Amino acid sequence: MKIFMTGGTGFVGKTLTHYVIEHGHQVTVLTRKIPVNHTPFQGVSLLEGSPTKRGEWQRSVPQHQIIVNLAGASIFRKWDKRAKEIIRESRVLTTTNLVEALSDGVEKETTLISTSAVGYYGFHGDEELDEDSPPGDDFLASVTREWESAAIQAEEFGVRVLTCRFGIVLGKNGGALGEMMPLFQKGLGSPIGNGKQWFSWIHEMDLIRIYLFLMAKKDLSGPINCTAPEPVRNKGLTQALGKALRKPTFMPAVPGFMIKLIKGEFGSVLLEGQKIRPRKLLDAGFQFHFSRIHEALHDLVG
Ligand SMILES: NC(=O)c1ccc[n+]([C@@H]2O[C@H](COP(=O)([O-])OP(=O)(O)OC[C@H]3O[C@@H](n4cnc5c(N)ncnc54)[C@H](OP(=O)(O)O)[C@@H]3O)[C@@H](O)[C@H]2O)c1
Repeated sequence: MKIFMTGGTGFVGKTLTHYVIEHGHQVTVLTRKIPVNHTPFQGVSLLEGSPTKRGEWQRSVPQHQIIVNLAGASIFRKWDKRAKEIIRESRVLTTTNLVEALSDGVEKETTLISTSAVGYYGFHGDEELDEDSPPGDDFLASVTREWESAAIQAEEFGVRVLTCRFGIVLGKNGGALGEMMPLFQKGLGSPIGNGKQWFSWIHEMDLIRIYLFLMAKKDLSGPINCTAPEPVRNKGLTQALGKALRKPTFMPAVPGFMIKLIKGEFGSVLLEGQKIRPRKLLDAGFQFHFSRIHEALHDLVG
Protein backbone atom coordinates (compact mmCIF):
# COMPACT_ATOMS: atom_id res chain seq x y z
CA MET A 1 0.00 0.00 0.00
CA LYS A 2 1.03 3.61 -0.44
CA ILE A 3 1.54 5.41 2.86
CA PHE A 4 1.83 9.19 3.35
CA MET A 5 3.61 10.08 6.58
CA THR A 6 4.22 13.30 8.50
CA GLY A 7 6.87 13.13 11.24
CA GLY A 8 8.51 10.22 9.38
CA THR A 9 11.97 11.60 10.19
CA GLY A 10 11.37 11.41 13.96
CA PHE A 11 12.01 8.82 16.67
CA VAL A 12 8.85 6.76 15.99
CA GLY A 13 8.54 7.65 12.28
CA LYS A 14 11.98 6.36 11.29
CA THR A 15 11.42 2.94 12.87
CA LEU A 16 7.89 2.72 11.51
CA THR A 17 9.07 3.59 7.98
CA HIS A 18 11.76 0.91 8.19
CA TYR A 19 9.26 -1.80 9.16
CA VAL A 20 6.42 -0.88 6.81
CA ILE A 21 8.72 -0.95 3.79
CA GLU A 22 9.94 -4.38 4.95
CA HIS A 23 6.27 -5.39 4.78
CA GLY A 24 6.16 -4.28 1.13
CA HIS A 25 4.53 -0.84 1.54
CA GLN A 26 5.76 2.38 -0.07
CA VAL A 27 6.15 5.51 2.02
CA THR A 28 6.12 9.21 1.14
CA VAL A 29 7.60 11.17 4.05
CA LEU A 30 6.69 14.84 4.30
CA THR A 31 9.53 16.78 5.91
CA ARG A 32 10.18 20.47 6.46
CA LYS A 33 13.74 20.12 5.12
CA ILE A 34 15.27 17.33 3.04
CA PRO A 35 18.88 16.92 4.26
CA VAL A 36 21.49 17.88 1.63
CA ASN A 37 23.36 14.59 2.08
CA HIS A 38 20.17 12.50 1.95
CA THR A 39 20.71 9.00 0.51
CA PRO A 40 17.59 7.66 -1.24
CA PHE A 41 16.21 4.44 0.22
CA GLN A 42 14.17 1.96 -1.77
CA GLY A 43 10.47 2.26 -0.98
CA VAL A 44 10.77 5.70 0.65
CA SER A 45 10.47 9.09 -1.04
CA LEU A 46 10.91 12.40 0.75
CA LEU A 47 8.66 15.33 -0.03
CA GLU A 48 9.64 18.79 1.18
CA GLY A 49 6.94 20.99 2.70
CA SER A 50 5.77 22.40 5.98
CA PRO A 51 2.78 20.46 7.31
CA THR A 52 1.62 23.45 9.35
CA LYS A 53 1.16 25.45 6.12
CA ARG A 54 -1.02 24.76 3.14
CA GLY A 55 1.03 23.96 0.05
CA GLU A 56 1.76 21.88 -3.03
CA TRP A 57 2.47 18.89 -0.75
CA GLN A 58 -1.28 18.56 -0.10
CA ARG A 59 -1.85 17.36 -3.69
CA SER A 60 0.15 14.21 -2.99
CA VAL A 61 -1.90 13.13 0.05
CA PRO A 62 -5.02 11.66 -1.66
CA GLN A 63 -2.82 9.43 -3.83
CA HIS A 64 -2.13 7.29 -0.75
CA GLN A 65 -4.36 4.73 0.99
CA ILE A 66 -2.87 5.15 4.47
CA ILE A 67 -2.07 8.52 6.02
CA VAL A 68 0.10 8.38 9.16
CA ASN A 69 0.27 11.65 11.04
CA LEU A 70 3.17 11.77 13.51
CA ALA A 71 4.40 15.37 13.26
CA GLY A 72 4.67 17.38 16.44
CA ALA A 73 7.27 19.61 18.07
CA SER A 74 8.87 18.11 21.18
CA ILE A 75 7.07 18.74 24.49
CA PHE A 76 10.33 18.18 26.41
CA ARG A 77 10.99 21.87 26.99
CA LYS A 78 9.88 24.62 29.33
CA TRP A 79 6.37 25.61 28.28
CA ASP A 80 6.45 29.38 27.84
CA LYS A 81 3.80 31.07 25.70
CA ARG A 82 5.73 30.59 22.43
CA ALA A 83 6.58 26.96 23.20
CA LYS A 84 2.91 26.23 23.88
CA GLU A 85 1.96 27.80 20.52
CA ILE A 86 4.53 25.66 18.70
CA ILE A 87 3.42 22.49 20.51
CA ARG A 88 -0.20 23.16 19.61
CA GLU A 89 0.25 24.39 16.02
CA SER A 90 2.69 21.65 15.00
CA ARG A 91 -0.05 19.15 15.80
CA VAL A 92 -3.39 20.81 15.19
CA LEU A 93 -2.51 22.79 12.02
CA THR A 94 -0.69 19.79 10.55
CA THR A 95 -3.75 17.62 11.08
CA THR A 96 -6.16 20.26 9.74
CA ASN A 97 -4.05 20.64 6.58
CA LEU A 98 -3.84 16.87 6.09
CA VAL A 99 -7.60 16.53 6.42
CA GLU A 100 -8.16 19.45 4.03
CA ALA A 101 -5.95 17.62 1.52
CA LEU A 102 -8.35 14.65 1.73
CA SER A 103 -11.44 16.74 1.05
CA ASP A 104 -11.08 16.62 -2.76
CA GLY A 105 -11.82 12.93 -3.01
CA VAL A 106 -9.94 9.94 -1.68
CA GLU A 107 -9.29 6.38 -2.76
CA LYS A 108 -11.72 3.74 -1.49
CA GLU A 109 -10.86 2.54 2.01
CA THR A 110 -8.48 5.38 2.87
CA THR A 111 -7.34 5.31 6.50
CA LEU A 112 -5.96 8.17 8.57
CA ILE A 113 -3.91 7.03 11.56
CA SER A 114 -3.35 10.21 13.50
CA THR A 115 -1.40 10.52 16.73
CA SER A 116 -2.60 11.57 20.15
CA ALA A 117 -1.27 10.86 23.62
CA VAL A 118 -2.44 9.52 26.97
CA GLY A 119 -2.11 13.13 28.14
CA TYR A 120 -5.63 13.36 26.67
CA TYR A 121 -7.04 12.08 29.97
CA GLY A 122 -5.30 14.59 32.23
CA PHE A 123 -4.10 13.34 35.62
CA HIS A 124 -6.19 10.81 37.57
CA GLY A 125 -4.00 9.28 40.26
CA ASP A 126 -4.65 5.54 40.61
CA GLU A 127 -7.86 5.44 38.55
CA GLU A 128 -7.63 3.06 35.57
CA LEU A 129 -8.53 4.79 32.30
CA ASP A 130 -9.68 3.35 28.98
CA GLU A 131 -10.77 4.87 25.68
CA ASP A 132 -14.18 5.83 27.13
CA SER A 133 -12.73 7.87 29.99
CA PRO A 134 -13.35 11.63 29.71
CA PRO A 135 -10.66 14.13 28.70
CA GLY A 136 -8.70 16.24 31.18
CA ASP A 137 -8.50 20.02 31.25
CA ASP A 138 -4.77 20.85 31.52
CA PHE A 139 -2.69 22.19 28.61
CA LEU A 140 -1.69 18.82 27.09
CA ALA A 141 -5.21 17.48 27.43
CA SER A 142 -6.60 20.48 25.55
CA VAL A 143 -3.97 20.12 22.78
CA THR A 144 -4.69 16.40 22.33
CA ARG A 145 -8.45 17.08 22.27
CA GLU A 146 -8.01 19.62 19.46
CA TRP A 147 -5.54 17.30 17.70
CA GLU A 148 -8.06 14.43 17.74
CA SER A 149 -11.01 16.66 16.76
CA ALA A 150 -9.07 17.91 13.73
CA ALA A 151 -8.40 14.30 12.65
CA ILE A 152 -12.00 13.12 13.12
CA GLN A 153 -13.15 15.69 10.52
CA ALA A 154 -11.76 13.35 7.83
CA GLU A 155 -14.67 10.96 8.51
CA GLU A 156 -16.83 13.43 6.56
CA PHE A 157 -14.90 12.43 3.44
CA GLY A 158 -15.40 8.71 3.99
CA VAL A 159 -12.01 8.16 5.62
CA ARG A 160 -11.56 5.63 8.45
CA VAL A 161 -9.95 7.61 11.27
CA LEU A 162 -7.92 6.22 14.18
CA THR A 163 -6.34 8.41 16.84
CA CYS A 164 -3.51 6.55 18.55
CA ARG A 165 -3.15 7.70 22.15
CA PHE A 166 0.52 6.89 22.72
CA GLY A 167 1.93 6.15 26.13
CA ILE A 168 5.62 6.94 26.57
CA VAL A 169 7.38 5.13 23.76
CA LEU A 170 10.43 3.15 24.88
CA GLY A 171 12.88 2.57 22.06
CA LYS A 172 16.54 2.08 21.31
CA ASN A 173 17.35 5.36 19.61
CA GLY A 174 16.00 8.28 21.59
CA GLY A 175 12.67 9.21 23.14
CA ALA A 176 12.24 9.07 26.92
CA LEU A 177 14.88 6.35 27.38
CA GLY A 178 17.38 8.51 25.50
CA GLU A 179 16.73 11.27 28.07
CA MET A 180 16.96 8.94 31.08
CA MET A 181 19.88 6.69 30.17
CA PRO A 182 22.83 9.09 30.69
CA LEU A 183 21.96 9.62 34.40
CA PHE A 184 21.13 5.96 35.01
CA GLN A 185 24.31 4.79 33.32
CA LYS A 186 26.29 6.93 35.79
CA GLY A 187 24.44 5.24 38.66
CA LEU A 188 22.55 8.48 39.37
CA GLY A 189 19.06 7.24 38.51
CA SER A 190 16.38 7.89 41.12
CA PRO A 191 12.60 8.21 41.38
CA ILE A 192 10.90 11.53 40.71
CA GLY A 193 8.72 13.14 43.39
CA ASN A 194 7.04 10.49 45.56
CA GLY A 195 7.60 7.86 42.83
CA LYS A 196 3.97 6.72 43.03
CA GLN A 197 2.84 8.33 39.77
CA TRP A 198 1.81 5.92 37.02
CA PHE A 199 3.86 5.56 33.89
CA SER A 200 1.99 4.11 30.92
CA TRP A 201 4.53 2.99 28.35
CA ILE A 202 4.84 1.01 25.12
CA HIS A 203 7.80 -0.85 23.59
CA GLU A 204 8.56 0.62 20.16
CA MET A 205 8.23 -2.77 18.45
CA ASP A 206 4.77 -3.33 19.92
CA LEU A 207 3.83 0.14 18.63
CA ILE A 208 5.03 -0.81 15.13
CA ARG A 209 2.99 -4.03 15.33
CA ILE A 210 -0.03 -1.98 16.45
CA TYR A 211 0.25 0.12 13.27
CA LEU A 212 0.35 -2.99 11.06
CA PHE A 213 -2.58 -4.44 13.05
CA LEU A 214 -4.66 -1.25 12.68
CA MET A 215 -3.95 -1.00 8.97
CA ALA A 216 -5.32 -4.50 8.45
CA LYS A 217 -8.19 -4.44 10.97
CA LYS A 218 -10.69 -2.39 9.02
CA ASP A 219 -13.45 -2.60 11.62
CA LEU A 220 -11.48 -0.58 14.18
CA SER A 221 -11.75 3.20 14.34
CA GLY A 222 -11.70 6.09 16.81
CA PRO A 223 -9.31 6.47 19.75
CA ILE A 224 -6.91 3.61 20.50
CA ASN A 225 -4.80 3.50 23.66
CA CYS A 226 -1.32 2.46 22.55
CA THR A 227 0.16 1.38 25.88
CA ALA A 228 1.38 -1.90 27.35
CA PRO A 229 -1.28 -3.73 29.41
CA GLU A 230 0.84 -3.38 32.57
CA PRO A 231 1.68 0.23 33.41
CA VAL A 232 4.19 0.79 36.18
CA ARG A 233 4.73 3.38 38.90
CA ASN A 234 7.70 5.75 38.59
CA LYS A 235 9.48 3.87 41.41
CA GLY A 236 9.01 0.57 39.56
CA LEU A 237 10.34 2.08 36.34
CA THR A 238 13.41 3.41 38.17
CA GLN A 239 14.16 0.00 39.69
CA ALA A 240 13.57 -1.84 36.40
CA LEU A 241 15.85 0.50 34.43
CA GLY A 242 18.58 0.25 37.08
CA LYS A 243 18.29 -3.53 37.01
CA ALA A 244 18.38 -3.74 33.21
CA LEU A 245 21.51 -1.58 33.17
CA ARG A 246 22.98 -3.27 36.28
CA LYS A 247 23.35 0.11 37.90
CA PRO A 248 22.37 1.15 41.45
CA THR A 249 19.33 3.37 41.99
CA PHE A 250 20.00 4.30 45.63
CA MET A 251 20.03 8.06 45.06
CA PRO A 252 17.31 9.94 46.99
CA ALA A 253 14.21 10.86 44.97
CA VAL A 254 14.31 14.21 43.18
CA PRO A 255 11.85 16.38 45.15
CA GLY A 256 8.74 17.47 43.29
CA PHE A 257 9.26 21.18 44.05
CA MET A 258 12.67 21.05 42.33
CA ILE A 259 11.19 19.48 39.21
CA LYS A 260 8.52 22.22 39.16
CA LEU A 261 11.17 24.90 39.66
CA ILE A 262 13.34 23.63 36.81
CA LYS A 263 10.70 22.37 34.38
CA GLY A 264 7.78 24.69 35.18
CA GLU A 265 4.33 23.49 34.01
CA PHE A 266 5.94 20.63 32.03
CA GLY A 267 7.04 19.22 35.41
CA SER A 268 3.49 17.98 36.04
CA VAL A 269 3.95 15.46 33.19
CA LEU A 270 6.81 13.94 35.18
CA LEU A 271 5.20 14.20 38.61
CA GLU A 272 1.69 13.01 37.76
CA GLY A 273 0.73 10.29 35.37
CA GLN A 274 -2.01 8.10 34.00
CA LYS A 275 -2.81 4.44 34.55
CA ILE A 276 -4.01 3.39 31.12
CA ARG A 277 -5.66 0.19 29.91
CA PRO A 278 -5.38 -0.56 26.14
CA ARG A 279 -8.91 -1.97 26.18
CA LYS A 280 -9.73 -1.71 22.47
CA LEU A 281 -6.51 -3.43 21.38
CA LEU A 282 -6.96 -6.23 23.93
CA ASP A 283 -10.63 -6.71 22.94
CA ALA A 284 -9.60 -6.85 19.27
CA GLY A 285 -7.12 -9.64 20.03
CA PHE A 286 -3.87 -7.69 19.65
CA GLN A 287 -1.00 -9.69 21.19
CA PHE A 288 1.58 -7.59 23.03
CA HIS A 289 5.11 -9.01 22.93
CA PHE A 290 6.17 -6.75 25.82
CA SER A 291 3.56 -6.44 28.59
CA ARG A 292 5.97 -6.08 31.51
CA ILE A 293 8.45 -3.27 31.97
CA HIS A 294 11.29 -5.62 33.01
CA GLU A 295 11.01 -7.59 29.77
CA ALA A 296 10.82 -4.43 27.66
CA LEU A 297 13.84 -2.78 29.29
CA HIS A 298 15.84 -5.98 29.23
CA ASP A 299 15.20 -6.20 25.49
CA LEU A 300 16.03 -2.53 24.86
CA VAL A 301 19.02 -1.89 27.11
CA GLY A 302 19.85 -5.11 28.97
N1 LIG B 1 7.83 9.54 21.77
C1 LIG B 1 6.89 9.45 22.72
O1 LIG B 1 7.12 8.89 23.80
C2 LIG B 1 5.52 10.02 22.46
C3 LIG B 1 4.53 9.90 23.46
C4 LIG B 1 3.26 10.44 23.23
C5 LIG B 1 2.99 11.05 22.01
N2 LIG B 1 3.97 11.16 21.06
C6 LIG B 1 3.68 11.84 19.81
O2 LIG B 1 4.03 11.01 18.73
C7 LIG B 1 4.52 11.78 17.63
C8 LIG B 1 5.85 11.22 17.21
O3 LIG B 1 6.73 11.21 18.32
P1 LIG B 1 8.31 11.21 18.15
O4 LIG B 1 8.88 10.94 19.48
O5 LIG B 1 8.69 10.35 16.98
O6 LIG B 1 8.58 12.74 17.77
P2 LIG B 1 9.92 13.41 17.21
O7 LIG B 1 11.06 12.47 17.14
O8 LIG B 1 10.12 14.65 18.01
O9 LIG B 1 9.54 13.72 15.69
C9 LIG B 1 8.40 14.38 15.29
C10 LIG B 1 8.53 14.95 13.90
O10 LIG B 1 7.70 16.10 13.88
C11 LIG B 1 8.22 17.05 12.98
N3 LIG B 1 8.23 18.36 13.65
C12 LIG B 1 8.99 18.75 14.70
N4 LIG B 1 8.75 20.04 15.02
C13 LIG B 1 7.79 20.46 14.15
C14 LIG B 1 7.13 21.70 13.95
N5 LIG B 1 7.39 22.76 14.72
N6 LIG B 1 6.21 21.78 12.96
C15 LIG B 1 5.93 20.70 12.18
N7 LIG B 1 6.55 19.51 12.31
C16 LIG B 1 7.45 19.40 13.28
C17 LIG B 1 9.65 16.65 12.61
O11 LIG B 1 9.66 16.31 11.22
P3 LIG B 1 10.53 17.15 10.12
O12 LIG B 1 11.66 17.79 10.85
O13 LIG B 1 10.96 16.09 9.17
O14 LIG B 1 9.58 18.12 9.52
C18 LIG B 1 9.91 15.42 13.49
O15 LIG B 1 10.60 14.41 12.82
C19 LIG B 1 4.62 13.22 18.13
O16 LIG B 1 3.52 13.93 17.64
C20 LIG B 1 4.53 13.09 19.65
O17 LIG B 1 3.88 14.16 20.28
C21 LIG B 1 5.23 10.65 21.26
